[in-house]
Amino acid sequence: MAETGAMSATTPTKGSYWITTFGCQMNKADSERMAGILEAMGYAAGSDEHSADLVLYNTCTIRDNAEQKVYSYLGRQAQRKRINPHLTLVVAGCVAQQEGAALLRRVPELDLVMGPQHANRLGTLLEQVASGQQVVATDDHHILEDITTARRDSAVCGWVNVIYGCNERCTYCVVPAVRGQEQSRTPQAIRQEIEGLAAQGFKEITLLGQNIDAYGRDLPGITPEGRRQHTLTDLLHAVHDVGGIERIRFATSHPRYFTERLIDACAALPKLCEHFHIPFQSGDDDVLKAMARGYTVERYRRILERIRERMPDAAISADVIVAFPGETDAQFRRTLALIEEIGFDQVNTAAYSPRPGTPAADWPGQLSETVKVDRLQEINALVETTARARSMRYLGRTEEVLVEARNPRHPDQWMGRTRTNRLTFFPAATFPAAAVSGPAAAAAQQGAEPGDGAIQPGSLVPVRIESVRAFSLSGLPRVPALSR
Ligand code: SAH
Ligand code: SF4
Ligand code: F3S
Repeated sequence: MAETGAMSATTPTKGSYWITTFGCQMNKADSERMAGILEAMGYAAGSDEHSADLVLYNTCTIRDNAEQKVYSYLGRQAQRKRINPHLTLVVAGCVAQQEGAALLRRVPELDLVMGPQHANRLGTLLEQVASGQQVVATDDHHILEDITTARRDSAVCGWVNVIYGCNERCTYCVVPAVRGQEQSRTPQAIRQEIEGLAAQGFKEITLLGQNIDAYGRDLPGITPEGRRQHTLTDLLHAVHDVGGIERIRFATSHPRYFTERLIDACAALPKLCEHFHIPFQSGDDDVLKAMARGYTVERYRRILERIRERMPDAAISADVIVAFPGETDAQFRRTLALIEEIGFDQVNTAAYSPRPGTPAADWPGQLSETVKVDRLQEINALVETTARARSMRYLGRTEEVLVEARNPRHPDQWMGRTRTNRLTFFPAATFPAAAVSGPAAAAAQQGAEPGDGAIQPGSLVPVRIESVRAFSLSGLPRVPALSR
């Protein structure tokens, strides 16, 4: 969950806004665009959820607990609205799409309920609210190219949507119902956005799609060799040379569509980071079939073999669901065995949660809360052990870290990520500014703190890893080999 509420340069004419974001990276990217729209309208980022003039919850409905959280947040704001009728209350995102007008009946204090396909229309929708209407925008909508500049949470790493929606029909999943049909943006629009980010000083971009391997299948064009003209691989080639961008990532990959051509491109293109997020969901073929995932465990293994053949140090992360309807203990153990066999760097785990309108929710063989909790505990322990073992390989190595910010828990440390996406900390103020020369020293004079060397957000710093934990690393910087 992320919150947007820092200072803004815009002169406020409409008061302050507050956005709380639940859910995945798509929602985070949508929130950044909605924040940009609000600022262009004259709202300023507020510092407190409970005094802001406009409160927007960008919601997630992937599991029941994500949905319930929204209702508890809304309850408090509804109370505030009864005292202060000028408060504007907005629910955006996937719960809004799923519930639509029912949400207005449940929380009549709401001004606007808007699905994710309407994020870029926030301005128009708020105008309708200002004219006195209660607005529900959840109809299927062709997503327009956004002309507002997003207000990004990071000045170093930027999200770039490349495909909206999902055409898969995994039997447990609400995403296709709430995000609609696949819609790819054109390579030109994507490149233009990335060039804009580079011009603002961004160093890393993550291309986003729920099923990013589907990129381009709704765009016209066939090559002379008879294959689709627009694929993720072609897109990577088309954006790779944008100057100033040092790192490129993409998510989320689907094992059904992940191609060897893509793996080869990742190995060949230097900015493509050696980290792949490829959810496998289950280590058992029958469960995968019931989930309608469209691949076998063997296919998944082969993808990883190929990745490791071409990029031996690549980090692999995944999502997995435990206690899917009918999952036996033996099937669950196959999932555990796959985690051990592959040696994942990180796995997001979840117990199956029945979602309204999805096929699996009505199936027999729903498992008890106890089984869910037990399996989740067991798998989480294994994920941690595996991740720790993977972290060990960094000990004593020097890794390139892209600095994002100070560590909020220890402001005397910088925080960044390795190319393989491991969070890494190292002490700030290790080197006197005078020890660094060239453009780095100039950067130091432009605002880095005294004694901080020339390191600042956006610097690429070689860090020697001295200690490791399951999901993060710590080390010492080896300057002056800075890139900026
Ligand atoms: N598009 C991605 C995942 C999107 S949802 C993919 O295909 O992998 C993010 C994760 O939430 C999924 O990978 C899945 O592990 C989990 N998830 C989705 N629906 C769920 C449900 N009903 N119960 C529990 N976990 C679920
Ligand atoms: Fe959901 Fe499957 Fe689409 Fe992923 S690919 S968003 S799990 S339907
Ligand atoms: Fe949640 Fe919607 Fe993302 S349901 S996971 S916010 S697509």
